[in-house]
Amino acid sequence: MSTAIVTATVTTELMPLVDAAHLRQFAGRFATGVAIIASRDGQGEFKGLVVNSVTALSLDPPLYLVCLDTKSNTLQAIAESGVFSINFLNERQIDICRHFASKAPDKFASMEVVCGPGGAPLIQGSLASCECKVVNFYPGGDHEIVVGAVDQVMIGEGSPLLFYRGAYGAWPEGDKR
Ligand SMILES: Cc1cc2nc3c(=O)[nH]c(=O)nc-3n(C[C@H](O)[C@H](O)[C@H](O)COP(=O)(O)O)c2cc1C
Repeated sequence: MSTAIVTATVTTELMPLVDAAHLRQFAGRFATGVAIIASRDGQGEFKGLVVNSVTALSLDPPLYLVCLDTKSNTLQAIAESGVFSINFLNERQIDICRHFASKAPDKFASMEVVCGPGGAPLIQGSLASCECKVVNFYPGGDHEIVVGAVDQVMIGEGSPLLFYRGAYGAWPEGDKR
């Protein structure tokens, strides 16, 4: 018996990326995980935010980069302390994720954390956490690219919290290819 190969034709219209709405639509079609970037400011207060612009940059030396809005309170704290943590969220941390995507004044009020050697808070129960020392800041439009040297890592267990087209989802267990 012969096997039919069915190919779907998808019309993709090229749209000029002139406005924020189109850029958001484009960016939203890249599925990512979600991370909390956390730090402490000059007064020792913890600050943190949710990001999906977190990328492994180099293996040797071990470097990661994150892109933070120039108006972010957490960016200000990182500039003051020179350290930050990266916490990859698991699917059970969706409420924490929503909380850290806000501008709430004390996001750490009921959070369980352990501090890395540089003093950045690592969020307990995350899929994986690490502490980074800032290596450099680079301008990137309305964001700042922060490059950090990975110092300590904590590896946990669980399934990742995913983000796609403006919505959260869970990794479909058993659908690995
Ligand atoms: C899924 C998701 C991804 C986000 N990614 C980023 C990001 O990469 N960089 C950024 O600056 N803000 C990002 N944000 C927005 C921040 O989490 C939000 O503006 C936060 O309130 C900033 O807090 P802060 O000013 O206390 O640092 C993201 C939000 C969501 C929900």
